[in-house]
Amino acid sequence: MAVLVCGGAGYIGSHVVRTLVEAGEEVLVADNLVTGHIEAVHPRAKLYRGDLRDAGFMETLFSENKIDGVIDFAAFSLVGESVLDPLKYFENNFYGTLCLLKHMRDHKVHKIVFSSTAATYGEPENIPILENDRTLPTNPYGESKLSVEKMLKWCEIAHGIKYTVLRYFNVAGAHPSGEIGEDHNPETHLIPIILQTALGKRSKISIYGNDYSTPDGTCIRDYIHVMDLADAHILALRQLYAGQAGGIFNLGNGEGFSVKDVIQVARDVTGHPIPTEICPRRAGDPAKLVSSAEKAIRTLHWSPRFPQLEKIIVSAWNWHRNHPFGYEK
Ligand code: UFG
Repeated sequence: MAVLVCGGAGYIGSHVVRTLVEAGEEVLVADNLVTGHIEAVHPRAKLYRGDLRDAGFMETLFSENKIDGVIDFAAFSLVGESVLDPLKYFENNFYGTLCLLKHMRDHKVHKIVFSSTAATYGEPENIPILENDRTLPTNPYGESKLSVEKMLKWCEIAHGIKYTVLRYFNVAGAHPSGEIGEDHNPETHLIPIILQTALGKRSKISIYGNDYSTPDGTCIRDYIHVMDLADAHILALRQLYAGQAGGIFNLGNGEGFSVKDVIQVARDVTGHPIPTEICPRRAGDPAKLVSSAEKAIRTLHWSPRFPQLEKIIVSAWNWHRNHPFGYEK
């Protein structure tokens, strides 16, 4: 029996695929390679190149294999782009997963771990954020993920598809082997952009706003290592396999760091001065997002191995230094 990882050639998906393969699982990857990288897919995973919305492709995938569970990462994830082109996000993120669920229903595959986001909360009412806090996304990316969460609830009731939703905070870092890591085009995330500055690929990093109501005026985020995230997916899937209830879980380290804090840690790690410039706020950025992941720690028995920001940046730096052009040769 195999695990199907949709979007398994992407940043987070590829780390989960590798963790699953190393745990001895049979892994199938479905990816259209629009944003994913073929080089990121572990050679022991079987890659099906295609789109979740392509019924013929999905029928082949589901009829050729005995699939026990699914982990779904297949999505676009640029918040700014989602505001400009919401239908692109609903079509890929929502409709793509809808198509996946139809095939799961028809082939009686009844377990799914779904990749969701802190963007489902929008501007939080409380810090740290709990799973049952208000969800009011401020952008179509978060709304597309929240819409899938709601669809999953109804599919469980109607079709017995058990699900676990994992809401990630700010993911960073790379595999300890240094062989896979983060490679987005365009890159919009803070840590890779800081490290590209340290590599001389950018002359400076723009700080989007220093007038937030935070101690140093810059936005505060909760950073989580991609390997800790990968561990949580395996634990979530195993609980579903064991017949335990799924649910919704935050994944973060429960500690907030400002943009300036992150830049300072990166200066210490890289030994580079990393010049900065203050720019206007980026639309839709909440001032502060910090998780409570107590539920995942308690229920999934999740125990982050790399909770320190410095270790997260060291690991990302190891990847970026050795792959300054990402997966490009
Ligand atoms: N930032 C800068 N300069 C940059 C890039 C980012 O100052 O060049 C700031 C942002 O304004 C933000 C912080 O750094 O305050 C973190 O920004 P990221 O783009 O790295 O991450 P986000 O918090 O915007 O987004 C992340 C995920 C999204 C997810 C979101 C949930 O990448 O997928 O968390 O809120 F939706």
